[in-house]
Amino acid sequence: MPAIVLVGAQWGDEGKGKATDLLGSVVDYVVKFNGGNNAGHTIVIDGERYALHLLPSGILTPGVVPVIGNGVVIDLAVLFSEITALEARGIDTSRLVVSANAHLVPTYNAALDKVTERFLGSRRIGTTGRGIGPTYADKMNRIGIRVQDVFDENILRQKVEGSLDLKNQLLVKIYNRRAITVDSVVSELLSYAERLRPMVADTPLLLGQALDAGKTVLLEGGQATLLDVDHGTYPFVTSSNATAGGACTGSGIPPGRIDRVIAIVKAYTTRVGEGPFPTELGDALGERLRSVGKEYGTTTGRPRRCGWYDLPIARYAARINGVTDFVLTKLDVLTGLEQVPVCVAYEIDGERCDEIPMTQTDFHHAKPIYEYLPGWSDDLAKVRTLEDLPTNARAYVDYLEARSGAPFSAIGVGPSRDETISVRSLV
Ligand code: GDP
Ligand code: IMO
Ligand code: MG
Repeated sequence: MPAIVLVGAQWGDEGKGKATDLLGSVVDYVVKFNGGNNAGHTIVIDGERYALHLLPSGILTPGVVPVIGNGVVIDLAVLFSEITALEARGIDTSRLVVSANAHLVPTYNAALDKVTERFLGSRRIGTTGRGIGPTYADKMNRIGIRVQDVFDENILRQKVEGSLDLKNQLLVKIYNRRAITVDSVVSELLSYAERLRPMVADTPLLLGQALDAGKTVLLEGGQATLLDVDHGTYPFVTSSNATAGGACTGSGIPPGRIDRVIAIVKAYTTRVGEGPFPTELGDALGERLRSVGKEYGTTTGRPRRCGWYDLPIARYAARINGVTDFVLTKLDVLTGLEQVPVCVAYEIDGERCDEIPMTQTDFHHAKPIYEYLPGWSDDLAKVRTLEDLPTNARAYVDYLEARSGAPFSAIGVGPSRDETISVRSLV
């Protein structure tokens, strides 16, 4: 023991990568349990910036075993290019373990993701175009290709044939594209087999044994609560379970073994892609948050939509995930504002609503009701204790903490590993 889950509380990019990296020194395993290379985590260590997509953030910590769990979807070309890039920078990736049951993202699914978005037009989701949705759909449809399939050419060929029978109909007849040949897909996947083989393991067995041996396992979520396919702002979500429940199914660690659930929450809110966002700012203040917070996607480079902290979202995340601790990030980005609005509830068709509404229609109509807290101007980068925060920054933190549904155990005051106020231990 223990097993710790780490998830995003809002719409992603809260700083999960930095938080996982911070915990790296005290955990033995870091398991990515959902998503794929739609995720983008930027981690800054000693002034060096690393952008990770498919690899668990624990890959950067010597001694930690990084694990890609069964709930992840893997684009093998991306996996090996990330490994090669890290090795070139002197990072040892040899400890990486990959679940035999994780699904692969075949090239035709990235193609389908992009054409489907184009086909949807104004109804598009704004996906990352990485083939994530079609690959999870194949998994549920039972026509997916798994890691283990690349070690049995016969099975691989049968599965690719079965899948392409269907996909080529779509590509050719609906989307007016060229058909993809079975041979090209099979030979590409087989080309990775020997490099992949030594990494592949029965990861639920490995992790169960690790917990039995008293090791600490961190289950790292990609995306976030409001992008979860069940609990997020459907259909403007990703196609996996990014909430704490997904940590169990996506890793094979049972619920009873989870000791702690940490949610990462930004001191304001951002979102990439389409969908409702009550506190979104369309003005100069939104532009300010974007430029000071460097809110541009790590994966697609798209400008992130920016808005204020939303208390109903924080409480929703606390409830859905069973959050034991929040890590509040990017407090430093708010420095210099005269006042900081916080969304305390919504007004929906003339009525006050204190929690996330039940229906999509209501959420689209939700207008934020704000409380305004006084701002601060002192630089926070060197602050390492709550007591040293400027009075108004401390009051902002205390105000959010009292209303977000769980204690704030750490606070980020800059992108670097050390730019963190540690309130209580996270393990
Ligand atoms: P993730 O997807 O949740 O891992 O988050 P991203 O890496 O996509 O986006 C978070 C960004 O904020 C990264 O560029 C981090 O380096 C940066 N970051 C994380 N914590 C802080 C913080 O406390 N302050 C500042 N200024 N930047 C932070
Ligand atoms: P991290 O782990 C922010 C969003 C996309 C789109 C929707 C569906 O870095 O927080 P998909 O390609 O998953 O089918 O796109 O989900 N999205 C993210 N937004 N951060 C992410 O990951 C995201 N991963 C997917 O922008 O709106
Ligand atoms: Mg990100």
